[in-house]
Amino acid sequence: MDITTEQSAFRADLLSGKTAIVTGASRGIGAAIAHRLCESGANVVLCSRSAESVAQIADTLQSKGYVTYAMAANISEKADVEALIEKTLDQFSQIDILVNNAGITRDMLLMRLKDEDWDAVLQTNLTGTMYCTRAVLRPLIRQKSGRIINISSVVGLVGNAGQANYAAAKAGIIGFTKATAKEVATRGITVNAIAPGFITTDMTAQIPEEHQKQLLELIPLREFGHPEDVADAVCFLASDAARYITGQILQVDGGMVM
Ligand code: NAI
Repeated sequence: MDITTEQSAFRADLLSGKTAIVTGASRGIGAAIAHRLCESGANVVLCSRSAESVAQIADTLQSKGYVTYAMAANISEKADVEALIEKTLDQFSQIDILVNNAGITRDMLLMRLKDEDWDAVLQTNLTGTMYCTRAVLRPLIRQKSGRIINISSVVGLVGNAGQANYAAAKAGIIGFTKATAKEVATRGITVNAIAPGFITTDMTAQIPEEHQKQLLELIPLREFGHPEDVADAVCFLASDAARYITGQILQVDGGMVM
């Protein structure tokens, strides 16, 4: 997969010396986040379920001179998450930034929603975010600093017909972000969430064209977002410029939800 060459708005030393983990980094928003973090000077550990696809992105970034490490990890499996954190510490001796980006959809009207589709979406989006956050807290608390950035969705704020499972998981991430932010604030760790609107990726490519047109009408900026728009918000929240911001939900949605 190609990754953008458009230059970051941030300085190359914004995050230099920092180590970041990005989950779900094999494509879409996660790949763009990994790229922007690299451009900002961070060492980046990329994970997704498939070793092959995440290695491809990591290799592309390495060929541009960035420091990356690719690893297969299914965030809905506790043992995989623990291995991810352990391996990152082995490779880089520290973790400064965790971006909980991996997510899935299994859309269906509630009347016809299968238990397994409810479970899968909650397990990946919400429980996976919890597993990664819980596992990273010990090293972050030890070093008395850290940035956790969770990718929620505007759907978690306003709901969406056909996405009861996804909306519940994304709203859950918002509550989880605020509770965790309160727990770890005195340890020098900030926890924030980003709620993207409609961003053009494989996930939204599944939405029928007619529905996409209707959605565009709801966006005051009259444009779908790019993965890099979310990635830039991540870099800001990960940087020292955001040191006094915690427990917040930053919407990156072209004004779709106000
Ligand atoms: P995508 O489907 O293009 O990519 C998702 C990534 O997560 C892939 O790398 C996939 O391999 C990985 N992944 C899925 N399940 C995983 C698991 N169990 N363990 C590890 N990795 C896993 O999705 P997209 O659009 O890039 O979305 C990224 C995040 O942004 C998701 O959390 C999504 O819910 C959220 N989001 C996306 C929006 C959009 O319009 N595209 C809008 C709002 C939120």
